[in-house]
Amino acid sequence: MTDASTVTHAVRDFYRDMPFNYYSDAGLAADSVARNPIADYPDLDALLEEDEIETVLELGCGAGWASNSMAKHYGKSVTAVDFTAAALARARDVSGRLGTTDQVRFVESDLFEFQSPDSFDLVVSVGVLHHTRDCRAAFAHAAQFVAPGGFLFVGLYHLFGRRPFLELFQGIHAREGEEAAFERFRSCASTLSDETHQRSWFRDQVLHPHETQHTLAEVWNWLDEEGLSLVSTSINQYQDVDDRPALEELEKRCEAISWQRNRDENSYYPGFFTILAQRDEA
Ligand SMILES: C[S@@+](CC[C@H](N)C(=O)[O-])C[C@H]1O[C@@H](n2cnc3c(N)ncnc32)[C@H](O)[C@@H]1O
Repeated sequence: MTDASTVTHAVRDFYRDMPFNYYSDAGLAADSVARNPIADYPDLDALLEEDEIETVLELGCGAGWASNSMAKHYGKSVTAVDFTAAALARARDVSGRLGTTDQVRFVESDLFEFQSPDSFDLVVSVGVLHHTRDCRAAFAHAAQFVAPGGFLFVGLYHLFGRRPFLELFQGIHAREGEEAAFERFRSCASTLSDETHQRSWFRDQVLHPHETQHTLAEVWNWLDEEGLSLVSTSINQYQDVDDRPALEELEKRCEAISWQRNRDENSYYPGFFTILAQRDEA
């Protein structure tokens, strides 16, 4: 699927049918946020503990787990953008249950059309930019909102880690049908709770109409072009990032790890990586 407006329409329609990370009821979603899922990203968690980070922009907030967590657990002021009305309705409902409505402003907009006179201390986008018509342009759009000295946290599908996952699940889907692929998915993604929640993840990760995959080497070049410096990445488990060539070699090993995890161990490894970067002060 290459035509830009076709991509945007297909992605909008896909999430209109069922948003991602969607529980059967808002109470379950609120319980999940109350357990603070951001702790799963230790570099973001540590950054959010800093008082200097006051304002956050989330692009593609979906049903709102990250925005509501950043408000609830870290006291941040969050602007949260998504173009899926049903996802935002759930995010607002959860926000009401958690008492974060004064801290989170939800905005229904295509992220490419979102504008702000203010920059932000932190811009977050998790699992979104690779579903847009142009991931590189979306990345630049996100980066422009990062204040001097501010941070950018992005999660994307990983070229090397993703291929085995897609080959495995799309193979089952083609040979045995959607329900067989869903059953295999459920058996490895065992931490997902109710069936609606599992289905929303399965659709997103196996049946999506449009995604692109990326490498750390590629995104590091984007950071250079946007005037940002890499701080940490999930590729090396958030260790230091001084040795760029070594890290770019390391990420290639994710393909073998993904085969082992997905095919041999039946453990969940969708092929996803994160980067945390900082803009220079000047
Ligand atoms: C995989 S979901 C991730 C949602 C959320 N970040 C999370 O981690 O649960 C992708 C989200 O991006 C949103 N999205 C995709 N393209 C978009 C665009 N061009 N503008 C605004 N939102 C978009 C979708 O509506 C969907 O909620």
